[in-house]
Amino acid sequence: MYRIRGLQIATAATLALTMTGEGVTADQARGRSIAERWCSGCHVAAPGQLQGSDTVPTFAQIGKSDKFDEASLAAFLAAPPHSRMPNLSLTRSEIKDLVAYIKAKQP
Ligand code: HEC
Repeated sequence: MYRIRGLQIATAATLALTMTGEGVTADQARGRSIAERWCSGCHVAAPGQLQGSDTVPTFAQIGKSDKFDEASLAAFLAAPPHSRMPNLSLTRSEIKDLVAYIKAKQP
């Protein structure tokens, strides 16, 4: 499964790129597809997703929170500092896209 992950993300990114429109940057669109694939099992990661895990903050909450700016959010994702949130071994480019997506997201 891990071996094909890069390919899946590349495919999702290509799809997201072609669907990009209306004020959404390519980074944000790629970030959203990564979030839906890798984060939505626990987090409510996109508008329209009805359920995540109860005790996990939604991406809308994380985006609005003063706790993280772009740099600290990227640092968190590179090495999640606690045990309940898994380290997903994201690449720097995936992290950049996720930060763009989470920070830009409006409720
Ligand atoms: C297996 C479940 C799980 C997955 C998958 C997961 N997370 Fe988390 N995440 C958590 C939990 C649980 C917390 C809260 C940890 C805590 O508060 O101690 C958390 C916390 C966070 C926080 C910090 C929120 C805060 O206010 O402290 C960020 C940012 C975050 N996750 C981003 C992501 C991103 C981006 C992804 C996908 C790449 C992701 N998570 C995938 C379970 C998950």
